[in-house]
Amino acid sequence: MTTNQKTVVKNEPKRVLIVGSGGRENSIAWALSKNQFIEQIFVWPGNGGTSTYEKCICIEPKNEEEIFIDCKRLQIDLVIIGPEDPLANGLANRMREEGLTVFGPCQEGAQLEASKDWAKSLMVENNIPTAEYWTTSSEKEALEVLERLNKPLVIKADGLAAGKGVTVCKTIDQTKEAIKEAFSGKFGSAGNRVILEEIIEGPEVSIFALCDGERLIVLPPAQDHKRLLEGDNGPNTGGMGAYAPAPLIDQKELQNLTKIILLPTLKGLRKKKIKYIGVIYAGLMLTSSGPKVIEFNCRFGDPECQALMPLIGSELASVLFACAQGDLEKAPKLTFNNLCSACVVAASEGYPEAPRKGDQIKISVDSNSSLQVFHAGTTLDEYENIVTSGGRVLSVVSQGENFDKAFDLAYESLRKINFKGMHFRRDIGYQVRNRSI
Ligand code: AMP
Ligand code: GLY
Repeated sequence: MTTNQKTVVKNEPKRVLIVGSGGRENSIAWALSKNQFIEQIFVWPGNGGTSTYEKCICIEPKNEEEIFIDCKRLQIDLVIIGPEDPLANGLANRMREEGLTVFGPCQEGAQLEASKDWAKSLMVENNIPTAEYWTTSSEKEALEVLERLNKPLVIKADGLAAGKGVTVCKTIDQTKEAIKEAFSGKFGSAGNRVILEEIIEGPEVSIFALCDGERLIVLPPAQDHKRLLEGDNGPNTGGMGAYAPAPLIDQKELQNLTKIILLPTLKGLRKKKIKYIGVIYAGLMLTSSGPKVIEFNCRFGDPECQALMPLIGSELASVLFACAQGDLEKAPKLTFNNLCSACVVAASEGYPEAPRKGDQIKISVDSNSSLQVFHAGTTLDEYENIVTSGGRVLSVVSQGENFDKAFDLAYESLRKINFKGMHFRRDIGYQVRNRSI
């Protein structure tokens, strides 16, 4: 560089890489594509629907070495890492070492989700409200705690268990069983330590912050639906639907939650010398004695993200870029529209235990400004047909001036989508709808 050449400080990313293959990643890609400065969005590995979104294309490097080479070749300005596994495995650290600008926490920061014990300690150290807990490292120790407390508890594997590591027990016998199961090796190394937690009660809601390491921007709260079946029955899933903004939390309460939960979490991370760049997702329970954190995630929720993205202005790309550069102050103001957003997940037969794959998907509905069909477990077969390839296949998302209108449109659109064994909950958003389908 000659002395009169200035370093170019970019405020807008032009070429973005998104890591992941789910509905979450496609909704982020779709939202970023609305930014006028974005030229191209690459998704690694993406899915059968990725290239149907404007400016979006899948790439298929086989490993990290190849992705680093591709990022340079494709002149990627910003990398966004979607899922928790690569974050917990340190992909963001290695990408930053390669000189890339990354939105997604480093491995140490991802402990917020990857170790419940670590997250609990951080909460206790920083006075963040959460359920009382006991960390145990053997079945014997856990059973001793249970005997002393003599009441049913929540049993949680410490590590990442794809949403399956938590059992809320109704009786002491069930608690014993859950302790045995957690220490049986069922959750692999995630179950080396097991957290026993007091059972708390109240409606659940999720809040999200985009962080640059020091500052944060809060997104509208969202409501997930974790159980497979209507009436919140059946096994836990990744999430069968969501809506946002969740009216349980108004603007004033969101400010309060920012003050008592999100900011202390970011400060607690900084005290540990962690520059946390990415999403802090706090899953909350609103109990009679105030809001309590039941879990942290180190990324956007899926399917909450799909419901949120259509509510956010096209400045999102610049805001994520500013976060990734550690300087939210140079970001434009993030705007939100006043709409209600509804997301219903269409799942394949057998989900969550053993999802069927390879069924052809027929989508006879066109996306428009108030309707999006985000692909998740889909792929292209040898004839370029879109077929199922995973449990949660599509997220059908729509917006309206109220939740009834938004959900009507989502469910109407689902009638025009078909694949063998397709199923979805008909009661997503029951908390905010006045009419059912
Ligand atoms: P998690 O994976 O930690 O979000 O837990 C999964 C689900 O278990 C949550 O969405 C809650 O419904 C429930 N849960 C977790 N912790 C507790 C708790 N301490 N008391 C009652 N229910 C809980
Ligand atoms: N929908 C819950 C999650 O993403 O963890």
